[in-house]
Amino acid sequence: MNTKQDYIAVFDSGVGGISVLRHLRRVMPGERYLYFGDSANAPYGTRTKQEVEALTFAAARRLVEQGVKALVVACNTATSAAIGDLRAAYPELIVIGIEPALKLAADRFPGAGIGVMATPMTLREEKFENLMHRYETVSRVYKLPAPGLVELVEQGRADSPETEALLKALFAPYLGKLDAVVLGCTHYPFAAKAISRVLGEEVALLDGGDGTARETRRRLEEAGLLENGPGEVVLTNSLPDGDILRLSRELLEGES
Ligand code: DGL
Repeated sequence: MNTKQDYIAVFDSGVGGISVLRHLRRVMPGERYLYFGDSANAPYGTRTKQEVEALTFAAARRLVEQGVKALVVACNTATSAAIGDLRAAYPELIVIGIEPALKLAADRFPGAGIGVMATPMTLREEKFENLMHRYETVSRVYKLPAPGLVELVEQGRADSPETEALLKALFAPYLGKLDAVVLGCTHYPFAAKAISRVLGEEVALLDGGDGTARETRRRLEEAGLLENGPGEVVLTNSLPDGDILRLSRELLEGES
């Protein structure tokens, strides 16, 4: 019998963190994952910082009480609101938080036009402001909040005509100005096909999922906590219906 001590907890405001879970599973297939999506309270990105902090702490408590060995905050919004306080509250636990991959984009495309798609909260928080100041001298960085996109992904409509219409309106002022776009919300990789259709395949799309997964592996290895078992994923959600778990499973196993 495995105890939850062996599990890596992965948390997001909804189904978006499953894009990170896919990277985690690829990088560490032999681990056990306990995923919690807070779809009942999504989206987080249009809430106040205090609300996101409270929701993040409630989710973390729920997961940590089960005795997990690491917590991956697979939500850029929750990371920007609460990662420092979470690390302070759980000093014994490995706590990793995803952030918009602006460094990766700026290093890979020096001097380029880089759009950062993220939630309004992520884009206005100090953490991102500091990151942006570091790179806007070498790159043209455009903030691209995308209201409504998280909801479409939560409804299983990431690759729908509605999503494409929303993206067309969002990118209209930036066409021809972007060489790369950072997907700074974990829901957005599920809309990558629609984003590429609107922007053109030549615009590179980058996200922090792979970096977060590698950092998690590095920290577990350092602590001697890596496991090489058969692997397992337990998907849970704050919404009580089966639809959200079906969508979660589809997003986990799907191609996009
Ligand atoms: N998936 C989350 C992120 O990475 C936020 C989505 C939301 O607004 O709830 O920022």
